[in-house]
Amino acid sequence: MLNDIKEMKRFVAILLTAFSMTAGIEAKTLVAYFSATGTTKAAAQQLAKQHNATLWEIEAAEPYSEADLNWRNKQSRSSIEMNNPNERPAIKQCTNIQPYDTIYVGFPIWWGICPRIINSWIDNNLEQLQTKTLIPFATSGSSGVEGAVEYLRKTYPTLTWQDGLLLNQ
Ligand SMILES: Cc1cc2nc3c(=O)[nH]c(=O)nc-3n(C[C@H](O)[C@H](O)[C@H](O)COP(=O)(O)O)c2cc1C
Repeated sequence: MLNDIKEMKRFVAILLTAFSMTAGIEAKTLVAYFSATGTTKAAAQQLAKQHNATLWEIEAAEPYSEADLNWRNKQSRSSIEMNNPNERPAIKQCTNIQPYDTIYVGFPIWWGICPRIINSWIDNNLEQLQTKTLIPFATSGSSGVEGAVEYLRKTYPTLTWQDGLLLNQ
């Protein structure tokens, strides 16, 4: 049943793309990303240039300090957030995703997956994201992006996730 709905959505998305192309309407692309220390930001900027896309930074209402990012400290903000799958850190400003067909969603790998603020962003936009094609991308110390993509597919099974890109320099 779930697969049927997914197939149907994919079919409608293909039809809409074909229609837009014949009608001369260009598909629009958004690169939305969160970056705590600038690495994913640089990757996002390159990606946006390559795809002639709009760039949007997902910012935490409360920015992450160096102490917040200390993964060796079990009591740090990032550790507390990653330990609880239901944490949804507040976002500074909402994104207008309405005009876009394809959205690259970027983040640093935290604990093998995406930071919880990515869940906040998805939850805030869940309704409108149903009709979009989503392409995750990430930077990391060494981890791959596959674990994050698997997590996103499992957590949001009604969304259309393409395979992820690891954009380490
Ligand atoms: C809290 C925290 C957890 C992290 N967990 C991982 C991890 O599981 N695997 C990995 O390869 N790198 C991990 N890293 C490293 C970051 O993914 C990497 O430095 C990334 O490029 C930082 O991106 P940014 O500058 O856009 O924030 C972690 C970093 C932080 C702060």
